[in-house]
Amino acid sequence: MWTYLILIIFSYLIGSIPSGLIVGKLFYQTDIREHGSGNLGGTNTFRVLGKKAGVVVTLADLLKGTLAVSLPAIFSLTEINPLIIGIFAVIGHMYPIFANFRGGKAVATSGGLILGITPLVFLIILGSFLITLLITKYVSLSSMITGILGIITTVILQEYQLLIVIVILTVFIFYRHRANIKRIINKTEPKIPWPKR
Ligand code: G3P
Repeated sequence: MWTYLILIIFSYLIGSIPSGLIVGKLFYQTDIREHGSGNLGGTNTFRVLGKKAGVVVTLADLLKGTLAVSLPAIFSLTEINPLIIGIFAVIGHMYPIFANFRGGKAVATSGGLILGITPLVFLIILGSFLITLLITKYVSLSSMITGILGIITTVILQEYQLLIVIVILTVFIFYRHRANIKRIINKTEPKIPWPKR
């Protein structure tokens, strides 16, 4: 019980590391939440600060999820379910204690969680994301569709524990994309490639 609680807190703190804010402030003197979509995530970093920063922030956010699900193995706590621990990193990413609880939209950190559990499922959903992005040109829509495709993938592969977690993550993703959904409906959501700053 206590070990669960400690790892949950640890995972939430890892998820709370605001990589977009750190990279933006440190190297560009910019709080990306004041620009673009206002989101503290890889996509808005690409949009506001460019490719190099976007790649760094996306990878860092991904890594937070992978690290969080690896915590039980790192501390040899085999009785702990890494999926439960990983969910709290995604919550930390969305509502970071180190950035006034104004964080990202759950996508990259959820991807990292899945990567740390089942690389095959990660590769399938990464492929689905890239194909959807190529077709729709909307990162937000591709993120939401990928959540649904992740659910379908885990049903087909009969990965039922991961299925439950991907359902939860997909609910997070849809909830955090409320503004994007409105913009997609109003046809005001920006498509890639975004204009340079
Ligand atoms: O990863 C978040 C992405 O799906 C949407 O980000 O900045 O376009 O709202 P943004």
